[in-house]
Amino acid sequence: MISFKDSGFVNTRDMFSKAYDGAYVIGAFNFVCLEQMQAITAAAMETRSPFIMQCSANVARYVNPIMVRHMAAACIEIIRSEGLTIPMALHLDHGTTFEECKAAIDEGFSSVMIDGSALPFQENIELTARVVEFARKHDVTVEGELGVVSGIEEEIEHSESRFTDPEAVSEFVKSSGVDSLAISIGTSHGVVKIRVKPGEPVPPLRFDILSEVEKRLPGFPIVLHGASAIPQKYVDMINQYGGKLDQAQGIPVEQINQAAKMAVCKINIASDGWITMTAVSRKALAENPSIIDPRKFLAPSREAMKEIYIYKMREVFNCAGKA
Ligand code: 13P
Ligand code: ZN
Repeated sequence: MISFKDSGFVNTRDMFSKAYDGAYVIGAFNFVCLEQMQAITAAAMETRSPFIMQCSANVARYVNPIMVRHMAAACIEIIRSEGLTIPMALHLDHGTTFEECKAAIDEGFSSVMIDGSALPFQENIELTARVVEFARKHDVTVEGELGVVSGIEEEIEHSESRFTDPEAVSEFVKSSGVDSLAISIGTSHGVVKIRVKPGEPVPPLRFDILSEVEKRLPGFPIVLHGASAIPQKYVDMINQYGGKLDQAQGIPVEQINQAAKMAVCKINIASDGWITMTAVSRKALAENPSIIDPRKFLAPSREAMKEIYIYKMREVFNCAGKA
């Protein structure tokens, strides 16, 4: 058992309470590789933003959990070496079982999500409460989920979203003991968040549900998944350089801005990082067919991701300067 404190990570309690009071959002960025971790950390350093470095259990297995912890600890060491103190949580995204969450806590994560959203209400409460009970002993914070966010996340696909019922949130939070709650208000995982005809506006998120939740849980941190913007520039670049992304459509930035001013304290971003990295790598490889040194496409990808993360922190989440 390794305590996250030894690696210099923080749990999300203090981060979220400040974000709630200050009406800003903590960015939670998914990584699958070193370059993404470097880009996320560099963006947080440049903007002085508290942040969450996160990955799923699948990614932790892909990278190796020991490698994940050491790379995340290295991010802290790099931050400190510049004389900065920027809070960073290492969070397990979409834990699906008690065992997965326990393993992450044992491996040194400072925060975990238990996603029981596909389960019946009582079973979701019971599973979440079990994770909370274990996590508490180690001062690890827990995110639960109520309502189903559609789209593809790892191998799990939810074809239909199920909006969160605001009537159910108080009982869920009270009975499970969670520290934060992911809700479903119309966002979705992946690059096709919604299907709109060309020229048609993207319908607004269900801010009415968010307001109802906020009323019932005053001061309680709410989380949004599936909130990437899917920049058209990178969709076009992927299509231009041999890829094929049809009907890609993200959540407009103004809508995320609005959510950020409400009870939302954490927003997850995976797809924006993925498509940026893929687009810039495709372009570099297509334009220079003789490349064999991976740095030749990884370095520009890393730089482009850093710019995307900086933009989120400064312009969308309003968390720049809060560290
Ligand atoms: P996106 O696919 O919108 O980036 O959502 C990521 C997410 O919710 C990770 O848990
Ligand atoms: Zn998610």
